[in-house]
Amino acid sequence: MPRAKGFNTEAVHAGEIRDPSFGNVVTPIFETATFMSPNTSRKPYIDATRNEPFIYTRWGNPTTQSLEEKYATLEGVKHGLSFSSGMAAITSAIFAMGLRGKKIMAINELYGQTHAFFSSYIQGFGMECDFISIDAANGPSFDPSGHSLMYVESITNPTMKVADISWISKVCKEHGIPLVVDATFASPFNQKPAGLGADVVVHSGTKYMAGHSDITLGLAGTSNREYYDGIQNVRKTTGPVPDPIQAYLAARGMKTLGIRMERQNRNAMEVAKFLSDHRKVSSVNYPGLKDSKYHEIASRVLRGYGGMLSFEVSGGLQAARKLLGLLKVPVVATSLGGVESLVSLPVDTSHASIDPQERKRMGIPDGLVRLSCGIEESDDIINDLDSSLSAIDS
Ligand SMILES: Cc1ncc(COP(=O)(O)O)c(C=O)c1O
Repeated sequence: MPRAKGFNTEAVHAGEIRDPSFGNVVTPIFETATFMSPNTSRKPYIDATRNEPFIYTRWGNPTTQSLEEKYATLEGVKHGLSFSSGMAAITSAIFAMGLRGKKIMAINELYGQTHAFFSSYIQGFGMECDFISIDAANGPSFDPSGHSLMYVESITNPTMKVADISWISKVCKEHGIPLVVDATFASPFNQKPAGLGADVVVHSGTKYMAGHSDITLGLAGTSNREYYDGIQNVRKTTGPVPDPIQAYLAARGMKTLGIRMERQNRNAMEVAKFLSDHRKVSSVNYPGLKDSKYHEIASRVLRGYGGMLSFEVSGGLQAARKLLGLLKVPVVATSLGGVESLVSLPVDTSHASIDPQERKRMGIPDGLVRLSCGIEESDDIINDLDSSLSAIDS
């Protein structure tokens, strides 16, 4: 058997379309909506969604398919699909599962828009959702019976709780329930949920996968052909395909996923340690810290602890808002996973639409600051945090 290649080698080469008749090294941007039909070439490129030559970009496109092959290789699954945004990947995956008249179980600590999708959108399509806490899903009494799908985020936003995917998937398998995992915060460099038993993996590719805060993108991966066909059928019907230029930029970004993640894992660990010792910080959420409640699970299900952390500033919302006004290295913006550090207050951004009581139940105090560590020098991020925290009172 040929030796499996390493992550970075696959990130650079997997899926690339190198055509000897052109001699191109990088997959071109096939900015074409339609394709000659019938294709009279004796050896046409094949659209994997139909096993026929490409015909129309809403079905498939060579640049997009090249991205999907790269993604599937890195995710360790047979099939990958890309979308115009992470929400398109998530909603397509759920709508593909044939759940009309059925119940979903999801963890409570979800990205705000995903939470809204499950709590007040799917009902219009004849589905229901019961929420449980991630701690309940991780615990010995986790029982998804009576439900037809389980949905989790492998690292939660913004509280950095870590799902025990191995345990959750084991219980789901015992009940014959498919498990869908949003692994946006981990990326396939830090975690391959399918290898831990997940049936479908979804990502906001906008974040680490594309990595440069310049495009929105979604990804879904599975080794189950039936799920793949179902998800691609929803995509073909509702239409949220990425543009080939978007797909090209995503594939370009993905080539450096491994080296970016290594650096971002390291930066976040250093920043988390620094913040834990800071007198103006009352708590830090980072699974890499030895005293994190999720450290043991994280050490089993993650290869690196990730580039995301959150912390509570003493002084609550006012102090947190002041801090954001003082910081010079991280850019104050929503989103995450880019090369530049980004900082935001979940209360004002990702979780603004959630009822304050529900937010409290999710463990999100008003003064919680979320930091996505970029690839800058960690000393520069730390010095900026230090001087800005010191200046809050002045
Ligand atoms: C964990 C998670 N999943 C999904 C999404 C949605 O992705 P997109 O904004 O690309 O639609 C986000 C966006 O922030 C997210 O943080």
